[in-house]
Amino acid sequence: MKITLGVTGGIAAYKAAELLRALQAKALDVQVVMTEGAQRFVQPLTFAALSGHRVITSLWNEGTADGPAMEHIELAQRTDALLVAPASADTLARFAAGRADDFLSTLYLATAAPVVLAPAMNVRMWEHAATQSNVALLEEHGATAIAPEAGALACGMYGSGRLADTQVVVETVLSVLDRREDLAGETVLLSAGGTREAVDPVRFLGNRSSGKMGYALAEAASRRGARVILVSAPTALRAPGGCEMVPVTTAGEMRAALLDHLPQASVVIMAAAVSDYRPRLVAEQKLRRAGPLTLELEPTEDILSELVRHRAPGMLVVGFAAETEDALASGRAKLLRKGADAIVLNDVSREGVGFDSDRNAATFLTPTTATELPEMSKRVLADRILTEVRQLRRPQTMLSESGAGAGLGQGR
Ligand SMILES: Cc1cc2nc3c(=O)[nH]c(=O)nc-3n(C[C@H](O)[C@H](O)[C@H](O)COP(=O)(O)O)c2cc1C
Repeated sequence: MKITLGVTGGIAAYKAAELLRALQAKALDVQVVMTEGAQRFVQPLTFAALSGHRVITSLWNEGTADGPAMEHIELAQRTDALLVAPASADTLARFAAGRADDFLSTLYLATAAPVVLAPAMNVRMWEHAATQSNVALLEEHGATAIAPEAGALACGMYGSGRLADTQVVVETVLSVLDRREDLAGETVLLSAGGTREAVDPVRFLGNRSSGKMGYALAEAASRRGARVILVSAPTALRAPGGCEMVPVTTAGEMRAALLDHLPQASVVIMAAAVSDYRPRLVAEQKLRRAGPLTLELEPTEDILSELVRHRAPGMLVVGFAAETEDALASGRAKLLRKGADAIVLNDVSREGVGFDSDRNAATFLTPTTATELPEMSKRVLADRILTEVRQLRRPQTMLSESGAGAGLGQGR
């Protein structure tokens, strides 16, 4: 497999040579790209000699012997992963801003390959709010960032800022490569967003779901090679690329769309916040203010239980539970009641996570296990959830029970 190692202008640039060797020891073919800053610290010749490839040092080759004119696009398509180590504060800022003013930043924008960032810098630079928000944004955009280590820094200070240990970086790259296409052959049927139940022609009963978690799951599953059918209640989000969108509004429409697409699915993930009740009667005309008003509500259908009842052998069904009290016990009870394979439990009573937030924490509950997924961006959490889902399937179940889902859990 081919990976690109971007080296930027930090004092830890010299460590990238050792990192390159460690990557090669894992049978990875490494193409090195150096920023101008990096070339002030280490000579390209070091990396050329170690990698066996010409080191890319400029965007402006103009189709000469130094490389093809569109090398940034050519490499963007050819690389299996982009690792930036060390990643300077400046490079992180330019990536986060979407700049494309040198080869590395242009490559970052142009590639669909997974990106791993290993920042290294002075502790104050690392802890600065600007750097922290750049890293958070880059994670939001799908990159995997490896936190620098604490220790004595080259600048004489002590704190977080040292380039992560070589083995940690190598293992992260390998795990990111391993996730690529690990859902190929799967059809993931996903629900997202919050349903709306009409009260009158202009009003509805809704909920606080933003759809971010479901959309992050859709994007991650698609990136990992799955066919994704996304049944989405209204959200303010852009449709994730590569997914088949099925827009719905009410719980009833969501139920119908999910049951309709169920036979095609090998994995079902119910991340939508579905209304438990709907008005029994919808007013034909807009309601006017005229004293107290009582709405009579009737329960909506229990979609998760229905999906479990109608599922084909071997199909995985995963639900979400947003709980406000006694989360673990309520989540476990829901899992058993519904008969799903797993429940992603959100304790929405916690500050700053869950509904409408970009961050979330969850517990992945199966009938026998409870895996804590600590607070992280919803994009990173989406990948963690999919990895947990992937582990639910055992090879023998897959082979004996179902033709569907040939990609999951094959130990790749
Ligand atoms: C001696 C020296 C050491 C530096 N070390 C670091 C560092 O460890 N991390 C960092 O983010 N910036 C460091 N800088 C600042 C960067 O080199 C500078 O921000 C540069 O613009 C980075 O460009 P690049 O990201 O395109 O390579 C250092 C600068 C100097 C002069």
